[in-house]
Amino acid sequence: MTPDLMKAGAQIRRARDEKSLVENGSGGRQASYGRLHEPGTLDVSHGAILYLDDITVSFDGFKALNALSLSISAGELRCIIGPNGAGKTTMMDVITGKTRPDLGHAYFGSTIDLLRLRENEIASIGIGRKFQKPTVFEQLSVFENLELALRADRGVRASMFFRLSGEQLDRIGEMLTLIHLKDSAQRNAGLLSHGQKQWLEIGMLLMQDPKLLLLDEPVAGMTDEETERTAQLFLTLKGKHSLMVVEHDMSFIRTISEKVTVLCDGAVLAEGTLDEVQADERVIEVYLGR
Ligand SMILES: Nc1ncnc2c1ncn2[C@@H]1O[C@H](COP(=O)(O)OP(=O)(O)O)[C@@H](O)[C@H]1O
Ligand SMILES: [Mg+2]
Repeated sequence: MTPDLMKAGAQIRRARDEKSLVENGSGGRQASYGRLHEPGTLDVSHGAILYLDDITVSFDGFKALNALSLSISAGELRCIIGPNGAGKTTMMDVITGKTRPDLGHAYFGSTIDLLRLRENEIASIGIGRKFQKPTVFEQLSVFENLELALRADRGVRASMFFRLSGEQLDRIGEMLTLIHLKDSAQRNAGLLSHGQKQWLEIGMLLMQDPKLLLLDEPVAGMTDEETERTAQLFLTLKGKHSLMVVEHDMSFIRTISEKVTVLCDGAVLAEGTLDEVQADERVIEVYLGR
């Protein structure tokens, strides 16, 4: 979930608990969600939607990312694997503006310099991120969670009085089907299984129509059936969105992957199909210990 959406949701929930939507004086001010800061338009005419070049991040002298270079094509579904501590999460932190690198460049398309933008600006230009732990609004229904994600760019106060258009209702309906939660639309999100919460959060991100979606270990803790459904969902998204998926589950990766990047010690160790990287001596060494 994006930081601004979290704020917006917390505010709406609070306002509703107070049962005084009209008198409630809070809200409005923090409603910066989705506002563009004119950082340039996304240009993917050169093929890539994300370019990372020579990115280095140091924590007290330790290089979590060490001259990492990687690019992702528009519409691609890229899988990232690598041992614990390889720098996978740190890489997502850099892309989303949570961590600033010491060196290097990060571009969204060929024109938008991500290192000049703040976290909420990066979210609003179309980079969505799914953290490992599901973060949905447990006291709101599944439907309300999706509705909130859809209208979050209107400002909290305006959105409280906002009525969904028929088209928007259709979109929520389609999303409920896509994420397999149609039958649970009116249930409180807190009652969903772990896997269903993960789907709901992915649905919330998709309501904002991200161009690039970053997913950190999306199937961790899911049942086999949930994992299989998630794989099918990602395959459906491919092409419409660009996806970067970090996962340890190799059978999941096998189902969804085209190109796999192996990270190790903060840099790219190997890149290719899953079969290619799994046959790579250096990769085998890293996974089986030296
Ligand atoms: N905020 C931080 N402060 C210090 N060290 C960190 C911080 N974040 C990550 N690290 C270190 O950077 C390395 C890469 O971490 P991380 O990106 O979480 O790896 P991965 O997601 O591939 O498991 C690890 O050694 C981790 O301990
Ligand atoms: Mg991680």
